[in-house]
Amino acid sequence: MRLASIAVMAGLILSPVTFAVAQATNYANQPPVLLGAAWYPEQWPESQWDTDLDRMEAAHIHVVRVGEFAWSTMEPEEGVYHWEWLDHAIADAAAHHIAVVLGTPTAAPPAWLTEKYPQTLRVSEDGVRDEHGNRQQFSFADEKYRELAHDIAERMAIRYGHNPDVVGWQIDNELANPSFDPEAKAQFHAWLKKKYGTIANLNYQWGTAYWSQTYNDFDQIPVREDNENPALLLDWKRFVTDTWVSYTENQVSAIRPHADPRQFITTNTMGWFNGFDEYKLHKILDIAAWDDYIASPNYDYMVNGALHDLTRGYKRKDFWVMETEPAFVNWRRTNNPLNKGQVRDMAWQAIGHGANTVEYWQWRANRNGQEEYHGVLVGIDGKPAPVYAEIQQVGAEFDKAGEALKGTSPHSEVAVIQSYDSRWAIDFQRHSARFDNGAEMMAFYRPLREQSQAVDVVSPMAPLDGYKVVVAPALNVLPQAMADHLIAYVKQGGHLVLGPRSGMKNAYDALQPERQPGPLVGLLGGSVTQFYALAGMVPVSGVAGAGTADIWAETLEATNPETKVLMRYGKSNGWLDGQPAVLERQVGKGSITYVGAWLDDALLSKLTAMWLQDAGVKPLVAGVPAGVEVCERTGEDKTVLILINHNTSEESVTLPGTMKNLLAGGAEVTSVTLPKYGVAVLDQ
Ligand code: GLA
Repeated sequence: MRLASIAVMAGLILSPVTFAVAQATNYANQPPVLLGAAWYPEQWPESQWDTDLDRMEAAHIHVVRVGEFAWSTMEPEEGVYHWEWLDHAIADAAAHHIAVVLGTPTAAPPAWLTEKYPQTLRVSEDGVRDEHGNRQQFSFADEKYRELAHDIAERMAIRYGHNPDVVGWQIDNELANPSFDPEAKAQFHAWLKKKYGTIANLNYQWGTAYWSQTYNDFDQIPVREDNENPALLLDWKRFVTDTWVSYTENQVSAIRPHADPRQFITTNTMGWFNGFDEYKLHKILDIAAWDDYIASPNYDYMVNGALHDLTRGYKRKDFWVMETEPAFVNWRRTNNPLNKGQVRDMAWQAIGHGANTVEYWQWRANRNGQEEYHGVLVGIDGKPAPVYAEIQQVGAEFDKAGEALKGTSPHSEVAVIQSYDSRWAIDFQRHSARFDNGAEMMAFYRPLREQSQAVDVVSPMAPLDGYKVVVAPALNVLPQAMADHLIAYVKQGGHLVLGPRSGMKNAYDALQPERQPGPLVGLLGGSVTQFYALAGMVPVSGVAGAGTADIWAETLEATNPETKVLMRYGKSNGWLDGQPAVLERQVGKGSITYVGAWLDDALLSKLTAMWLQDAGVKPLVAGVPAGVEVCERTGEDKTVLILINHNTSEESVTLPGTMKNLLAGGAEVTSVTLPKYGVAVLDQ
């Protein structure tokens, strides 16, 4: 089963932020903004392809992804290769002005492979080896599997690396689960040995005197992803990251030498999924891409927008939506559709947040297989599904607005920091089951996005000097080097906001020698005296008015006379009564703020308004009704606004000046009225 994809930092800033480098499509004869679909020609007789491709062309589809599950068609028996069908599929697509992204087929090893090489099958944490079937049944660490994966990827690259109609490569498909096979375990032990040198060093860093965990040898160390020493668990995640990176690198190295430089290499990621560290993986990839599916019954555009921003942050440039749903999926508990109009709304939101391609999964219903119920553009009979017309409209609109969008990207003055180490560390020891990292990030992201209309989501060590405000919602793991990076940012005039639980752990997931925020205590001039999980709301009041905290509350203490108490807890459990909840210290032109509680939305929104105002961040377009999203993409001498009305009521927006309404024939307008789920694309 597919893992459901779920669902920001400044001041001194001398020049507008240059966060995302424009990533227009770099191949000839294709428009700058692409509509696409996942196409599985191997499931259909060639005689039917033209009908499908005609319909794609009529929908303004300019790219298809092909091949990512077609290993048994490419190599039906070991060493027997069939490429003619793929040659033809690429040529036929090209004849319809459709370019191809080739997926390496390694997420679905064929039966002959797993039968002959059973050691390539994945082993679960409880020691059970997968049998052949379903997909993703391989071990990411197995040498033989890597050899076979390298071989098939290399053969594809030799054949298609210079094919003018192949524009890029997707490695595997939705990298996800680790394996606990003996080879993976041995590799983990070797990884630990390399990292720590001696077992004595590991014992010290992991604090193994606790519960008699002291090891005499690396080989004794259990391999677990749950219920273990948090230091072990954190290192396991890092090992899993490195193993997925080398797994991917194995295929990148097979493709790169044979591929034209114009062909990009990417993989399709899964939004909030945190099985490994995407920042590390993306160092070896050319662009980021993700599969944008709504994980909950309702489309929350803020969550979805944050996940676009998260993906843009992997490479700090524009990205692709490699897959998205044509109204509905088949893997949720209830696969209710998006409302009519919301598919278009989502497509434009992707572009607004920096995608240059939106591809639907999938083009046509499969004849059989586990996904017969999934949303499609055309049905089993090859005729359009009801959603086809809406997607066709999107395609026509991408063509209309493409030139204006070419070379443009979103740019933000505000950043949210997202750290895999911190998310993992909190998940290992939540302390409150309600402390959900995604929800915590969204609590800070929402008001920032609402009020500034542009937010980057970046890794903790990303360059911060372009941002006026940087917010780290729960930067739990905060080693000294990261602290130095943040201190430098504040000293240069940046406004740093830390959320609860920040600065508690070092790089080994051990408690810092100082209380929170550990290495930032000096800069803040204050610290946490005690943390508390909350079973209900407690009152909080101060400069931002009165409200509540829930889930988490830390009592703070200001130790420097320059450190101000902005908010305090009211009467509750005695421990919190009257204690500081938010501290802030000005440092030159910059500042550091520590928010010790999970505050209610209204209160956090008011504090956010103060932070943005102090830092001089203004909305891109003022006075926009709630539920209307403003996205801006800028490039050299270009500003394009994308307005999306996520509401079910009609809304009007007054523009900052006269603009061309690109989807309405280029008429010059000073305001627009957007119907329910309406979109306007406006060029300055
Ligand atoms: C994932 C996979 C696709 C398909 C879709 C269905 O994203 O990458 O192969 O299974 O889910 O939603």
